[in-house]
Parts: sequence; C-alpha cells; structure tokens
Amino acid sequence: MNAERITPIDINANQAVKYADAILAERSEQARRLKYLGGGSFGRAVGVTLENGREYVLKLLLAPDMMEKECRDLRLLRENCPVRVPAVLYSRPCDDKIPADAYAMEKIPGKSAVTDICLFLSSKKRRLGFADEVTSALHAVHECVNGTFGDTLCPRHTDWLGLYKPFAQDILTRTHAAVRRGELSQSILSAAQAAFARFDDIFCEPVTQACLIHGDLNVANIMVDKGRVSGFIDPLNSMYADREYDLFQFDNLTGKRFFLADTYIAKYGASRNVRAKLAFYGLFNEIYCYFKAGTLFPAIMRPLVKNMRTQLAAL
Ligand SMILES: Nc1ncnc2c1ncn2[C@@H]1O[C@H](COP(=O)(O)OP(=O)(O)O)[C@@H](O)[C@H]1O
Ligand SMILES: [Mg+2]
Repeated sequence: MNAERITPIDINANQAVKYADAILAERSEQARRLKYLGGGSFGRAVGVTLENGREYVLKLLLAPDMMEKECRDLRLLRENCPVRVPAVLYSRPCDDKIPADAYAMEKIPGKSAVTDICLFLSSKKRRLGFADEVTSALHAVHECVNGTFGDTLCPRHTDWLGLYKPFAQDILTRTHAAVRRGELSQSILSAAQAAFARFDDIFCEPVTQACLIHGDLNVANIMVDKGRVSGFIDPLNSMYADREYDLFQFDNLTGKRFFLADTYIAKYGASRNVRAKLAFYGLFNEIYCYFKAGTLFPAIMRPLVKNMRTQLAAL
C-alpha cells in the first residue's frame, strides 16, 4: 500500500500488437490473428489466435515489478475461486527488444460485463441473478483466510486497522500537498479530511479475519458469456484484508445497476457502519489511484466525494 507515483511505460495499441508478434516469433509460434483487447493505466492485453486455432491472451505490464505479483495472485485466486480465473501459461521479462514485462494467460470466453449492453438493459431479476453469481464466487474467495493481514506476497500485519489507518493518513497528507500544488480540488480534500476525522467512529468494529481479496473486482474485470459469469480477471492489490475492502469497487462504473454490494451484504452480512466504510475505502482508493497513475477521472471521483458526505451525515 505504497502511493508513490509510477510512470507507466508508453505503449499504444499498435505497439502492443507488434510486441505480441515479436514474442510469438521468439517462441516459434505462428499467429493467425492478433487483436488488441484493451487496457487501462498499467496493462495492454492482446488476443492471440494461433494457426492451429488455439487462443490465449498476452498482457504487457506498463509498470516494473508488477509481473511476479500479478501472476502469483492469478494462481492464488484460481485455486480459491469457483468462477474461472485465467491460468498463467508463460511469462517473459522485459529486455532491450521489448520494454515491458509480459505474460500469457488462458482466454476467458465472452466479454467484459461493462461492455455487455444486453446485460445492462436486462430485467431486474436477471441483473439480480448476475449479482448472485458474482457475489457467491467472491465470497468463496473471501473464505480463504490467513493468520495475518497484508500483501499476498508478504502478509505480516497482525491488525488490519494498524495497516490501513497509516495508509489513509499518508493519502490525506499527500492530498493536502496536491491541493496546494493545484492538482486536486478543495472539495476532495475537505471530504477526505472530514472522513479521516471520524475514522475511529467509522471503523469502530475490529476486523478480526484476514480474507483473500481480488482487490479490483469492478464490472470491467468480470467476464460474461451467454448470459452467465465466465470469469474474473485482472487482480490488483490482492491482499489478505478486511473482506469489505473488496466491496467498494462493486459500486464503481456500472456496478450499482447490478446491486452487487447490496447483494453481497444481504447474503453474507456486514460490519456496523459498512456503508460509511465502503464510502471511505472507495474515496481513499480513488485518491491513491490518482497518486499512483497520475490520472484523475472526475466521473468516478465526484460521486465518491458526494457519497462520503452523505455517509458522514448519516453516521
Ligand atoms: N484472460 C482474458 N481472457 C479474455 N479477455 C481478457 C483476458 N484478460 C484481459 N482480457 C480483455 O482485455 C481487457 C484489458 O485487460 P485487463 O487485464 O483488464 O487490463 P488492465 O489491467 O489494463 O485493466 C479486459 O477488459 C478484457 O476485455
Ligand atoms: Mg482491467
């Protein structure tokens, strides 16, 4: 949980396909088709179809030191998730020829739920069915527990809040500085300040169980095929954590339309003040992402600030 800025390696869609082609040539694999699939701040995914018809996905990682963790977390989640998580097939560290680490993984059928317009427009019953499938699978992941909290590679904290509160304090300190530099707005700072001032009220219940979390399960990282959930992809910051630290992403993008967080809470229960906690986790995570990647998405940030104020008023 380190908010230091990472400057991503600059690779566009065309270059990603060219690098994928070079990796295949190195492996003496014949590609019939290479297709750019998409990517966010730190990834570029390319779909590979080989001459023999076999398909897989090559992902280039735009930040150094991501590959070991991402591959390990995919394996760990795959072992503990009833919904398919792609198997890692091979990895290739960066060198003079290709400036980004890359790994290959099994292709999940279907498409990202965020792009499935039929699912978005489907009946409430259908959307609740989707939420039921997603939350059952995520809860199974959360049932993988550990004796200590922290990064999956080195979980060494005995207390969740002892790990999370200094992180939130660091984000707040950095937010002050970013507002002074004119990078972030005063409204973000005042919401974060007001929330941090109530930290001990919001987090009044101790977190007793360290649960495996995906870390970035928003609807863009849920795959759907023929109306069913076909896979979870793209873990980020997977940890042994408060399991509620895995729920705030559900409300980002179109997640609310599918009642994802509500369904999880109704099925599996939640701690006192869960709404305020999710608002806090969501706001501080979005500010953290700004520091990490340098990109601010007002369409995501604005509702998080508003929700934080609403939850504080209701506390
Ligand atoms: N294993 C996979 N199977 C099928 N499609 C995938 C797979 N991995 C990634 N994709 C596609 O590529 C897009 C970007 O990949 P993702 O791993 O989410 O990158 P980022 O880390 O940049 O968000 C996804 O939204 C999805 O459409
Ligand atoms: Mg993604």
